[in-house]
Amino acid sequence: MMNWNPNSWRNFPIKQQPIYTDLDKLKKVEAELKSYPPLIFAGEALKLKGDLADVVNRKAFLLQGGDCAESFTSFDANNIKDLFKVMMQMAVVLTFSGGCPIVKVGRVAGQFAKPRSADFEEINGISLPSYRGDIVNGVDFDEKSRVPKAKKLLKAYNQSAATLNLLRAFARGGMADLNQVHLWNLDFVKGNALGEKYEELANEISKTLKFMKACGITSQNTPQLNQTTLYTSHEALLLNYEEALTRRDSITGDWFDCSAHMLWIGDRTRGLNDAHIEYFRGIKNPIGCKVGPSMKEDELIELIDALNPDNEAGRLNLIVRMGAQKVADIFPNLLRKVKAEGKNVLWSCDPMHGNTIKADNGYKTRDFEAILSEVKQFFQIHKAEGTYAGGIHLEMTGQNVTECTGSCSSAITQEGLASRYHTQCDPRLNADQALELAFMIADTLKEARSNLA
Ligand code: PEP
Ligand code: CO
Repeated sequence: MMNWNPNSWRNFPIKQQPIYTDLDKLKKVEAELKSYPPLIFAGEALKLKGDLADVVNRKAFLLQGGDCAESFTSFDANNIKDLFKVMMQMAVVLTFSGGCPIVKVGRVAGQFAKPRSADFEEINGISLPSYRGDIVNGVDFDEKSRVPKAKKLLKAYNQSAATLNLLRAFARGGMADLNQVHLWNLDFVKGNALGEKYEELANEISKTLKFMKACGITSQNTPQLNQTTLYTSHEALLLNYEEALTRRDSITGDWFDCSAHMLWIGDRTRGLNDAHIEYFRGIKNPIGCKVGPSMKEDELIELIDALNPDNEAGRLNLIVRMGAQKVADIFPNLLRKVKAEGKNVLWSCDPMHGNTIKADNGYKTRDFEAILSEVKQFFQIHKAEGTYAGGIHLEMTGQNVTECTGSCSSAITQEGLASRYHTQCDPRLNADQALELAFMIADTLKEARSNLA
């Protein structure tokens, strides 16, 4: 690899970065982070790459989801547990209908840095630097909060480590046991029609488990029944942090970003000659790249060649986020071009970021119908081209928030948004809405997979 090292990105133009004033402090923090243990092990990232290759080869489906931005203030065990539970519920719904394994990847344990549409935010004539995520500055609208502070990188690392630790405990310690399928139903979902639909499915699974137990297959003797893997991912936006956690794997000799299993490049920082592409080309993790409405066909091919020169299946996940109004116009040509060039990529659908609107009362929101419509169109476009819709990328939470409008189960109106609007950044699906979406995607996935040879 030509002249790459973990800090070679520093020689390239870079977008969406904070301006630190205390550079000595930043250097010290980076050195300290470099001395800390990695959060993941290269072998795990390679295992995920293999799982994602299965998706590319139509043997599995990817479910990626979590907060838009994790925050230091909402860091608690219940939030982590409820996200884990709702991911498990969605995965079981999708597995049951799609009849294929679901690769589960959280936007969690590191999803702290945010790109912004403007460098400054103005309220009542006062202009302050934009909030860029808890790893950078504070969300409160005052001068002090908005100053970027290097020590926040250490706090983000510590929160990520603790979050990952709990997720690993849930995944391996019994919470993921299929015999727990009823307990994944969150309290506020239980009472409604959706909760009942889920209970029916859980009953079916319980019956099957009883039958298997009678045949001698139990969760005590079959790890597949009592354990799972929930991988972690985030947008690798703040490269000072990512560089400090980049390590050379002693087994393969390759470089890995050990801050998460999978990292992705945002739609605003994917310039071919920019720092983020330089950094990503050198790490061997599975990676993602957002594909928004401004992407051009030739540009996409150049990006694919830069990020996945060996055309390795499982390495590159293209996360399409066009918006329900645009996807049918823009996506088919990109898909045809990539197919014609024979590129092995995973196509997944982010139906969130192209569907953000401002409600009449000022809240940033997304409507469930638009989200569902983009997902459906994404599947239809793949069907027409004979390609595989491999995954879904969602901003969601296990909490009972009111941030996105619509859906049968929640029926949140624009007026109702104020009641529990807690996001630090973009509006998330609540657990009801996420589960409802999973049921709908499950039907579409079932149909798509029934046509596979
Ligand atoms: C995100 O995923 O939170 C995000 C900012 O997305 P995008 O880069 O697609 O706008
Ligand atoms: Co977002």
